[in-house]
Amino acid sequence: MKLVAGNWKMHDRGADLASAIRAQLGAPGVEVLLCPAFPYLREVGEAVAGSGIALGAQDLHWEPRGAFTGAVSARMLLDVGCTHVIVGHSERRLLFGDTDAAVAAKVKAAMAVGLIPILCVGETLEERDAGFAQRRIRSQVAAAYQPGCVVAYEPVWAIGTGRAASPEHAREAARTVRDAAGADVRVLYGGSVNAANCAPFFEAADGALVGGASLDAAAFAAIVAAAEVAG
Ligand code: PGA
Repeated sequence: MKLVAGNWKMHDRGADLASAIRAQLGAPGVEVLLCPAFPYLREVGEAVAGSGIALGAQDLHWEPRGAFTGAVSARMLLDVGCTHVIVGHSERRLLFGDTDAAVAAKVKAAMAVGLIPILCVGETLEERDAGFAQRRIRSQVAAAYQPGCVVAYEPVWAIGTGRAASPEHAREAARTVRDAAGADVRVLYGGSVNAANCAPFFEAADGALVGGASLDAAAFAAIVAAAEVAG
């Protein structure tokens, strides 16, 4: 079954958007996951309770507790109803300095409490232009993947740029992820997915990680509908 995940990033949307999405979706025929910012997790969880829509966080810390000001543990995410957590998003890697080692530690911490990590991998424009895209994907998977993770392939140059990868590029990347992680890993594509361009990505991958378009209930519902068509 396809998985469509909405990454709301640092946008102040909570139960309002979750309720609008719930109303648009009815009973979704694919897995749907909403990932609001930490302060809105509980209210989003309440807004989607009983709908089949799952709740995920955007990051976590690898330690279970302690003097880590500003950080949130895996157990805390479970306590507010999360089943998933995004790990190693390129914005975390590039803006907050998350290394492959930190990403690996976060994956481990999430899995230790039963959260499903959505491990994000993807090359920068420089890496792509230098012909290193597949090598970068392999190295990020090798550094942090554990069986049970979902892997989101998100080329950095496609995130928030309106310039999605071609479906062929996404398909090749998904193949690279499967070569590195094992044939049964679920691979999502992310990077400027919208209602108009999403259908081929559901052929190339097992679902999508959607940023900007997930903030619009109608657009997100159209993406989910395309995933349902793909099966
Ligand atoms: P975008 O973001 O859809 O706005 O490009 C995707 C992501 O960062 O997960």
